[in-house]
Amino acid sequence: MPSFYITTAIDYVNGSPHLGHAYEKVLTDVIARYRRLMGDKVHFLTGTDEHGQKVQQSARKKGIAPQQFADEVSAEFKSILPKLLISNDDFIRTTEERHKKVVREVLQSLFDKGDIYLGEYKGYYSTRQEQFLQEKDRNIDGSWPELFGEVTEIIEKNYFFKLKTHQDWLIDFLAKNEDFIFPKYRQKQVLEFLKEPLNDLCISRPKERLEWGIPLPFDAGYVTYVWFDALLNYYSAVVDKPGVWPAAWHVIGKDILVPPHAVYWPIMLHAAQIPLPKGIIAHGWWTQSGSKMSKSTGNALNPLDLVTEFGADAFRFFLIREMNVGQDSDFSRDQFLVRYNSDLANDLGNLINRTLNMANRFSAAQIPAAGPAGEPEKELQALWEKTRLEYIPLFDGFQFHTALERLFIFIKSINAYIEKRAPWKLGKSVESSDQELLRTTLATMAESLRLAGAALQPIMPGTSEKINSVLGFTPSVTWSEQLEWGTKLEGSKVDESLVLFPRPQPAAPKQ
Ligand code: ME8
Ligand code: MG
Repeated sequence: MPSFYITTAIDYVNGSPHLGHAYEKVLTDVIARYRRLMGDKVHFLTGTDEHGQKVQQSARKKGIAPQQFADEVSAEFKSILPKLLISNDDFIRTTEERHKKVVREVLQSLFDKGDIYLGEYKGYYSTRQEQFLQEKDRNIDGSWPELFGEVTEIIEKNYFFKLKTHQDWLIDFLAKNEDFIFPKYRQKQVLEFLKEPLNDLCISRPKERLEWGIPLPFDAGYVTYVWFDALLNYYSAVVDKPGVWPAAWHVIGKDILVPPHAVYWPIMLHAAQIPLPKGIIAHGWWTQSGSKMSKSTGNALNPLDLVTEFGADAFRFFLIREMNVGQDSDFSRDQFLVRYNSDLANDLGNLINRTLNMANRFSAAQIPAAGPAGEPEKELQALWEKTRLEYIPLFDGFQFHTALERLFIFIKSINAYIEKRAPWKLGKSVESSDQELLRTTLATMAESLRLAGAALQPIMPGTSEKINSVLGFTPSVTWSEQLEWGTKLEGSKVDESLVLFPRPQPAAPKQ
């Protein structure tokens, strides 16, 4: 069984989870579930990033120890996962000993090899971003961009990790691995960034300035810079699990691609002689009225409110249907309601109702065998065949929004097919040809609903399972086989009804 290791970024524990964090977990979960369905042995990691200045500051503000603060917020991040139906196999915290041990080992080996050296740093430092700044980071008018918060000038002795000596290797590596970063245009941005000479990376913080970090194994006066510590979580979590490393994909937001994931991380691994991951998926941002949803700007949306109101599957559907992976998407409740009402309550919900209702009324709740297919049946089957053949390549290319768009065209077509055949009329006729057509119609409705449910499995696992269950179907074959049109439901006993997407309130008016 091929191994498929996928990770999310690990979230800072300096604030509560918001929609952006939830999206990243859901996106990664869709890929993980998809690969499991395709037969891979998947390992799915997520977790929390707990060291650094911001956490130390937030804990101080609350008047508690950083560890206690991290324990509380990490627990909050962990607790949303089951509510979002996230199928992670592990959850790592950077304050765990299994992680700290690996960080110390990697630091020591890089130090022994001469990739880490002691130098003097003089420059501007942003506490909010925990990073030293350069002249080129200033605004045109000489001020520092808002995102850096308070900027102060400092001089101190620090340890540096050699980036410069590995710069040519990285450029060459990216040239040879064109698909290392998805979307592709982001890889070009990295290469653009690499046209300027790299500065070595300051990877230590003097203990007087920052206590909350992993002490350097070769100098107890310093703790490790939080990014150097955090990136290693992907490796530390699986170092004792044979066959898992290297990762297939690191799923992250575009704000942490350059330089941490696209420059520091590959060079760290290369210098430490650890194999590189297959690639990085950099998704875009959820914005609200155009600006990035974030903990610090206060426009964050609690994802659990939507989950409580509409259910995890509807929430997952919305995120995946709306977001083109890599681009930004603006969140609005109106848009959520439009999708919910039209795609879920109307198209999918109605299809389920009608299928169960007609089978109960006219066939004693049993799916009959289909007779010979007429034109409408052939058309619907042909559309399914087209949808199915497009679906998997769209998944492989991370075009989930388009895959869902195509699938819902199919679902709409099933409803149109039902209108055309009008089983409620056929059921009233005593003609044997009408009775045969009724059986064909009921079988066709049920089979196409089953297929739609199967296709939804990675995105809406709860709904997919319920559809199988009300259709009296227990899948015992591979997912690819479940996606084939057939006679699997012949003779199966269906439930009376299922209300999956109750209408919460009137749809926002469509313009
Ligand atoms: O960056 N829309 O943590 P974090 C979409 N600890 N994604 C968003 C988002 C938004 N509005 N806001 C944040 C960190 N994210 C580091 C990562 S990894 C070794 C260390 C995404 O809590 C963000 O892009 O600030 C990142 O991938 C993840 O949420 C965690 O962000
Ligand atoms: Mg952030």
